[in-house]
Amino acid sequence: MSRVLITSAIPYINGIKHLGNLVGSQLPADLYARYNRARGHEVMFICATDEHGTPAELAAKKAGKPVDEYCAEMHEIQAEIAKGFRLSFDHFGRSSSQRNHKLTQHFAGRLADAGLIEEVSEKQVYSNADGRFLPDRYIEGTCPNCGYDKARGDQCENCTKQLDPTDLIEPRSAISGSTDLEVRETKHLYLKQSALKDQLDDWIQSKTDWPVLTTSIAKKWLHDGDGLQDRGITRDLDWGVPVKKGDQDWPGMEGKVFYVWFDAPIEYIAGTAEWADANGKTDADWERWWRTDKGADDVRYVQFMGKDNVPFHTLSFPATIMGSGEPWKLVDYIKSFNYLNYDGGQFSTSQGRGVFMDQALSILPADYWRWWLLSHAPENSDAEFTWENFQSSVNTDLANVLGNFVSRVTKFCASKIGPHVPEGGTYGEAEQALIADLTARIRSYEAQMDAMEVRKAANELRAIWAVGNEYLQAAAPWSVFKTDPVQAGAIIRLMLNLIRVYAVISAPFIPDAAATMLAALKTNNNAWPDDVTAALDALKPGHGFEVPEVLFAKISDEEREEWQKKFAGVRT
Ligand code: MF3
Ligand code: ZN
Repeated sequence: MSRVLITSAIPYINGIKHLGNLVGSQLPADLYARYNRARGHEVMFICATDEHGTPAELAAKKAGKPVDEYCAEMHEIQAEIAKGFRLSFDHFGRSSSQRNHKLTQHFAGRLADAGLIEEVSEKQVYSNADGRFLPDRYIEGTCPNCGYDKARGDQCENCTKQLDPTDLIEPRSAISGSTDLEVRETKHLYLKQSALKDQLDDWIQSKTDWPVLTTSIAKKWLHDGDGLQDRGITRDLDWGVPVKKGDQDWPGMEGKVFYVWFDAPIEYIAGTAEWADANGKTDADWERWWRTDKGADDVRYVQFMGKDNVPFHTLSFPATIMGSGEPWKLVDYIKSFNYLNYDGGQFSTSQGRGVFMDQALSILPADYWRWWLLSHAPENSDAEFTWENFQSSVNTDLANVLGNFVSRVTKFCASKIGPHVPEGGTYGEAEQALIADLTARIRSYEAQMDAMEVRKAANELRAIWAVGNEYLQAAAPWSVFKTDPVQAGAIIRLMLNLIRVYAVISAPFIPDAAATMLAALKTNNNAWPDDVTAALDALKPGHGFEVPEVLFAKISDEEREEWQKKFAGVRT
């Protein structure tokens, strides 16, 4: 047994995530967590909501709520939906937790002590009416390029021109509308990532087993253009982790908070501490996952994320960890994903385009989505969701192959032989060949799962389902039954046992269907088929079962068209 620490990129608090977000981090992380638990490893799987920064403040304002209240509510909503998708986090934390405040301030203090933080004076727009500095997107005005009167300080939404706040004609505060603005000097902290460049470079170079998608992005940022820039890690906002050096005040930094991208990855650690707090554990219980001086040296740490997150996880967060000079666990493997597109365009949160997690669950149970998303994970290139493809995957893989197999075997046995595992008969050549084939395929499935090759693993699993179906078709117990009912019973005994094996190995992809299958077989034996021959003999003659409800309903053309229409517009 080994120990596996798994984190998924933490979703922004502002709004419910779409299926593209889900498949790029949380869902494959869950697949891997479930698989590792099933193989008997000790797993710690952490996710959280990413609650700081301008987007959270703006979303709260739009919702007409204080930002802390907004975040608390949205956290509950996201946690509920995560449960709906059966995401099996050991803890779903909050980057606004006290644990994260303390740890973020701790890291900043260590980095300052190591001489890795620089104080820089900058000019920024200050609003007298609001009594605060305004980040770029809090400043509005008329676009000098197209005349649009609601252009933001960073960009004009109308003509897409990138802007500086000082480019705007008649600039005003997006908070109060006040035009009483002035440019003031303000101090910010910069993390001297450049000082860690060689150390980061050596570390990335040593990761020869990482996906090319991950290392190519890291290397591009390390070597192209200006290389690794020092990074501003503070902001003039109210909502966030107050800038402190450990538990000391930081002179000149009063009223400022850390930049959201500085505190967010630290929440992986803080979230594990929150897990300890929530479960009556001690500090030692979470530190054994994170501190190599406290037992974490034998932990394998794997992160899951979309490609846009890779620079922060290959460079910025490791710079925080390395720069601290403390024995924190660095990531061992980064699994990154391309984008999932939606029906000829992009999923878009700001435009409400595509299917969002709550909407998905309102039309079909989690397993349908989990299977499609994982079996089409955007690993080697961007992928596309279309309703036709979704319908055909569900109907073929889930309904025709797996669901049909389970239903045929259980129904036939219940009606012709009885609701128990039949006895007698022998396994001949065809059965031995099936067992050998299954053994080879299950070993290959394990290899793909260990390697986090999500699509390849799904393909292998689908093939394993198909092999059973083909055998059943050829063995035709319903014909054999007419002349040799005992031998038909032997075939069915093997098939009932195969249903159990299917339940166990499919559970990481489709946990609810797997649970239904085990419940129908009246067993909670979910032991992994390390020895396939033995696993196919787990349910003994006489063991009772019942015919399960339909595992997967087919999607009709009418339903597909209805959903296609329903989701063609824009979510409001
Ligand atoms: N909230 C970010 C996103 O959705 C991800 C943050 S991951 C972390 O893109 F490492 F910063 F936590
Ligand atoms: Zn414009």
